[in-house]
Amino acid sequence: MVLSAAIVLAAGEGTRMRSSRPKVLHTLAGRTFLSRVLAAVQGLDPGRTAVVVRHQADLVAAAALEADPDAVIVRQDDVPGTGRAVQCAIRQLDEQAPLDGPVLIAASDMPLLDVDTLSRLVEFHESSGDVATVLATVLDNPTGYGRIIRRADGRVLRIVEQKDANGSELAVHEVNTSVYVFDAAVLRRSVAGLDSRNAQGEFYLTDALESAATLGSVGAVAAPDPLAVEGVNDRVQLSALARAHNRRVCERWMREGVTILDPDTTWIDDDVTLARDVTVLPGCFLQGSTTVESDAVIGPYTTLIDAVVDEGATVERSRVQSTHIGPEATIGPWTYLRPGNELGRGSKAGAFVEMKKAHIGDGTKVPHLSYVGDADLGEHTNIGGGTITANYDGVHKNHTRIGSGVHVGAGNLFVAPVRVGDGVTTGAGSVVRHDVPDDSMVYSENTQHVVEGWKPAWER
Ligand code: UD1
Ligand code: CA
Repeated sequence: MVLSAAIVLAAGEGTRMRSSRPKVLHTLAGRTFLSRVLAAVQGLDPGRTAVVVRHQADLVAAAALEADPDAVIVRQDDVPGTGRAVQCAIRQLDEQAPLDGPVLIAASDMPLLDVDTLSRLVEFHESSGDVATVLATVLDNPTGYGRIIRRADGRVLRIVEQKDANGSELAVHEVNTSVYVFDAAVLRRSVAGLDSRNAQGEFYLTDALESAATLGSVGAVAAPDPLAVEGVNDRVQLSALARAHNRRVCERWMREGVTILDPDTTWIDDDVTLARDVTVLPGCFLQGSTTVESDAVIGPYTTLIDAVVDEGATVERSRVQSTHIGPEATIGPWTYLRPGNELGRGSKAGAFVEMKKAHIGDGTKVPHLSYVGDADLGEHTNIGGGTITANYDGVHKNHTRIGSGVHVGAGNLFVAPVRVGDGVTTGAGSVVRHDVPDDSMVYSENTQHVVEGWKPAWER
């Protein structure tokens, strides 16, 4: 079925989140609710997608355009309610080009909404020939949701909101998910007559179903996957939904051949890719576009953000961001890899090592207590414990280059900009301020004074 448009509702404040950030810009598994819903909607290829904004309108509009550059931004006025949001959207879309045909409407506080669920709704709408179809779900605890009231013949009569419902209506467990398809002409007429005579003093979109039911028959179809239509109104719901989703993501990776020792403490974003025979130990966060290749072992207690970890590498108790870890490399424990590192095959970044924009050749090792920043290290070089690249002179970040086959003694200081050739050996405690040629040895004078028999004043 060809949709004439989609309308995504994102104007609400999300008061129950108690947040300075608009609700739809909260995230689940690394992506905002809004971008997730827009991705699902884009999967149906609607002719036009309107996104209705009001609360922190510029922020939400920018996020919508980032997710869908073709989105039509509609600014809702000060009249509150989901019905008003749709009135504003219709007016603006009609001005562009009159709507004709089925229109999809979706709230954007349903982070797990997916294209399969939307397709099911659209197909049902098409095959039923109804003028409007609401996506429904049956809940054990329907508190807070609009209840779907059906006629004796099963057609939908209306939707009644929790706060407006009487005792028998509250007993209904079939609820409105806030996703609908309407015939455009019916939608236009139905929302035109909305008012705010209800418990919340808002224009309810749900009331449009009742008038649609006077213009033709209105149906409801159950969402095949209850998680996909679960709305988030507060952070308790967000936490529960995120956990349920994460459990599914972990199970999917386990079925693909990834060992996950403890899915309860392993959190994997949707855009992460894991190869077969990866092992993830407890307490890990795999975030952003992270990719891990086969036989790598991650964790325990490791965060990877937009990282690439090649085959057979291990990363233990570390934080790694925007870094490429080569095959068979060993990282950790307690290593902090900030953005921009390239670590070669079989290289090592050990305990209490911090790196930033460091390129480390194959087999090069930085085993203990070092900072390596803005630096290139060749292959099979060893950096002694406690060595630091002094890359910042207070104004500029400067570069250190250390060649291949270099043995750096313990506690060295490389004062950048500085270049050290291949095959160099440096003495312990060297302060290297000037370039060092290939195959040489460098050490710093540092005179050791011994005062015999000396005692501190209070012991004299
Ligand atoms: C709404 C439905 C309810 C349904 C529930 C499902 C109405 C009146 N009620 O209630 O039947 O069971 O969703 O989760 O529609 N929004 C706007 N403009 C506004 C107000 C809200 O665009 O003026 C947007 C919000 O950003 C949100 C969506 O509409 O994405 C739903 O708003 P929300 O306040 O969460 O509605 P519910 O009370 O959950
Ligand atoms: Ca809601």
